[in-house]
Amino acid sequence: MNYRSQRQELISRQYRLQNAIDDKDYLFPDNLQQALELLQEAMAGEQSDEEFYGYLITLAPNEEARKIIAGIRDDELKHHRLFRRVYRDLSNQAPPLAVEEGFIRPKNYYDGIKRALLGETEAVKEYRKILFALQNRVHINILTEIITDELRHGILYGLLLNM
Ligand SMILES: [Fe+2]
Ligand SMILES: [Fe+2]
Repeated sequence: MNYRSQRQELISRQYRLQNAIDDKDYLFPDNLQQALELLQEAMAGEQSDEEFYGYLITLAPNEEARKIIAGIRDDELKHHRLFRRVYRDLSNQAPPLAVEEGFIRPKNYYDGIKRALLGETEAVKEYRKILFALQNRVHINILTEIITDELRHGILYGLLLNM
């Protein structure tokens, strides 16, 4: 890289660093409406994960793998219940009745585990935006439990890829 393009690179990096941070995700109560929408998506997502993982259990190669996936599946049911609680408290409305969201069948077990792992990591990115809008310590604890569960799930699916 010559001097000129090095210099260009440095300038564009400085420019990116100086770009204003968008407060939209971080600032309460501006982020509350987004959190309520994300909560609705989260409830539907937890339900379809519960169904998807139930299907993966039927493809699992051995008892140890079945047990791990069943544990994750049970966590998703717990998450669904916890999200309903937070949604009810924040909106003063009954959470929408869970609709049959369903899931697309993976090509095979390996494909399904890979998709599950990627889904877990995406959930962490969405769920933390909900956390950022919470004020009540109980709600914060609930989201902390859910988010750390999803991180555990990602690690466990990584293990399942090699089992
Ligand atoms: Fe979950
Ligand atoms: Fe999960």
